Amino acid sequence: MKYLTIAEALDKGKGKVAIRGWIYRERSLKDKVFLVVRDSTDIVQCVVKDKLYDQAKELLIESSVKIEGTIRADKRAPTGFEIDVEKLDIVHKAEKYPITKDQSIEFLADKRHLWIRSRKMTAILKVRSSVFGAIHEFFRSKGFYEFQSPILQTTQCEGGSTLFEVKYFKDKMFLAQTWQLYAEAALFALEKIYTIAPSFRAETSKTSRHLTEYWHAEMEVAWESFEDLQDYAEDLLQFIVKRVLKECKKELKILGRDIKKLEPSAKKKYKRITYSEALKLLDKKGFKLKWGKDLRTVEEDELSKMFDVPVIITHYPKEVKAFYMKEDKKETVLGFDVIGPEGYGELIGASEREVDIDKLKKRLKEQGEDPKHYEYYLDTRRYGSVPHGGFGMGVERVVAWICGLDSIKDAIGFPRTMLRFKP
Ligand code: 4AD
Ligand code: MG
Repeated sequence: MKYLTIAEALDKGKGKVAIRGWIYRERSLKDKVFLVVRDSTDIVQCVVKDKLYDQAKELLIESSVKIEGTIRADKRAPTGFEIDVEKLDIVHKAEKYPITKDQSIEFLADKRHLWIRSRKMTAILKVRSSVFGAIHEFFRSKGFYEFQSPILQTTQCEGGSTLFEVKYFKDKMFLAQTWQLYAEAALFALEKIYTIAPSFRAETSKTSRHLTEYWHAEMEVAWESFEDLQDYAEDLLQFIVKRVLKECKKELKILGRDIKKLEPSAKKKYKRITYSEALKLLDKKGFKLKWGKDLRTVEEDELSKMFDVPVIITHYPKEVKAFYMKEDKKETVLGFDVIGPEGYGELIGASEREVDIDKLKKRLKEQGEDPKHYEYYLDTRRYGSVPHGGFGMGVERVVAWICGLDSIKDAIGFPRTMLRFKP
């Protein structure tokens, strides 16, 4: 008999079926055993009786089995159907499973390699997979090439304090904080490029938004304007949310996500305000931030409460942003952040790139960097420089937002933070 996935078996709803998977729950009565079996697609209750009873009774959670039987509707069963088991093939008898109900977050993190099988984690990982697929599709449909930059790099880009140093034979190198400086070089060959790759930040802050290794979706584009860049960011997020709402209804339900809160972000225009306007809005709510100071988590959260869609904040003060952002007026840059709704923080960081080589050198020096180390980058401004810009999106932040997670750590299979790097 051909094995069906559990979702297919539930769809079939009657007649003979063969499934395989893992014991998700078991309960033995005097004359029968209820086995709830899971696979990657769903769960289904199976009833074992008579001559198979003794065998089934011994099975512990997470044992792997192949089952043949007859499926029929049963309102009492967790997914509305039940299989009367006619053949039970035990593939592996599991030992006593260490994860039981109501365990601490730390214990589950220690057992992450097992916890990843939970329905919650399975649902999140499926959403994550949809998000990755959507990013690729979005950029490819708009004529972008996928480009890969090196992970081992010789310079910083987003500030020296979060660099991971790597011993490199007799030299030292750094793990990529971003693809950007290499992407800007590749842009002169390909004009429209994107990537999804790991980025590394030696973040010491223990927050629900920071990982030390995260997946970074980045794009870089030549010739386009600052407004075009904002359109790309908005269109990308809308595309992702729309895709997840379409593909992952079941998963969002398992996660208890209120999709009404997500729907506006799939279709409504996103709010666009300048940094100075943001300060005014904050002032009305009693947040007094001096012009020139970066928005902190509290201010970003307050702003995100004001809208039901992401808010794009443009024209930040020069001092709080990276050296490569294009100067606008004297004190501001053509950069923007996209702040997610519901307090999910900065989802995207973006800018038009500075093309004036002297300004770039000056700003590098101000940050204590030696422009000599950036010659490979400065060359892009010497040979046919063109206006260009790009952005980076933290994929886990987007997944955490879409799934409504408490922590970014659950948005990735095996999270890395300062304190958590095992398993
Ligand atoms: O704002 P960031 O630092 O910008 C850059 O790296 C640019 N070079 C991107 C570009 O223009 N190509 O990082 C971009 C995004 C942030 O908006 C945030 O979503 C995410 O990366 N991010 C992190 N996500 C998880 N953990 C961390 N420690 C993160 N740091 C940044
Ligand atoms: Mg940023």
